[in-house]
Amino acid sequence: MDQAKLYSEFNNLQMRDDLYILEKYWHLIKLPKKAMKVMDVGSGDGKFTVKHLVEKIPKFEKLVAVDISESMTNFAKQNHVHENVEFLKFDIASQHIPDGFHNSFDYIFSFMCLHWVENQRAAFKNIFEFLKRGADFFAVFVVHNPLTIAVRDLLESSRWKHYNHDKYWPGFQYGTNPKEELQNLLTQTGFVNVRCHIEEMTYTFPNLESLDGFALSLNHVIVSEISIEDREDYIREYLRIVRTLPSVTIRKEDGEGDETATLAYKYFVAIGTKQ
Ligand SMILES: C[S@@+](CC[C@H](N)C(=O)[O-])C[C@H]1O[C@@H](n2cnc3c(N)ncnc32)[C@H](O)[C@@H]1O
Repeated sequence: MDQAKLYSEFNNLQMRDDLYILEKYWHLIKLPKKAMKVMDVGSGDGKFTVKHLVEKIPKFEKLVAVDISESMTNFAKQNHVHENVEFLKFDIASQHIPDGFHNSFDYIFSFMCLHWVENQRAAFKNIFEFLKRGADFFAVFVVHNPLTIAVRDLLESSRWKHYNHDKYWPGFQYGTNPKEELQNLLTQTGFVNVRCHIEEMTYTFPNLESLDGFALSLNHVIVSEISIEDREDYIREYLRIVRTLPSVTIRKEDGEGDETATLAYKYFVAIGTKQ
């Protein structure tokens, strides 16, 4: 299935968490009163950007929603049209910066994206570069997700080793003090007034099929690189590992009905100002 369609079908967890975090931290988001140019980094299928984020922003001139994926960008353009929102294919870690990005945004948001970016230093450098002086960014991204660790472990096993690429293991998941590492990175980038929080979350999937769908949507890029002959075996092995992870609890409520699956994971919430 196409990446954007898969994401849009299995993103209940991300939608719930985006909204929860936006509400919880809204008091820390200081938007200027007028003529706002805003960016959303990693806008995915566009649903959260257009259905929720723009609703929270009182007045804005333009929201530029960027995503590295062509499939996501096209899906967003087709399914979440808004006259002041422009969807653009762009890698936030890129060195090729479009005209009009430098020092020109009044606020930059990013939801559930930056853990996918291999070169996070370059990504934050760009976010810094794109903001106007005195403007803030607000980012939510994964600090620990057991499913990505399951993918890494699987790709380190002898059968799947040849598909392994370091690019799938970004950032902070394996460090000993991720919060301090992120704070240092942001300060070194030039941000001031840096605040980093870790949010511990759980999500209960109503049945094992929805856990599988979510797990596959996260692993989509890798699955698409596995040869057609091997793909079924890879998916079967991956889903078996997911169901036996210590951070996944499978149970039958009251001993009846479908088995539910509860996943435990952690997010960073980070805010900073360009001085
Ligand atoms: C989990 S989706 C989040 C979508 C949306 N923000 C939401 O909260 O529903 C993460 C998105 O980040 C995008 N992404 C990953 N690396 C990126 C990069 N280097 N630059 C821009 N977008 C990136 C992916 O293509 C994907 O659409």
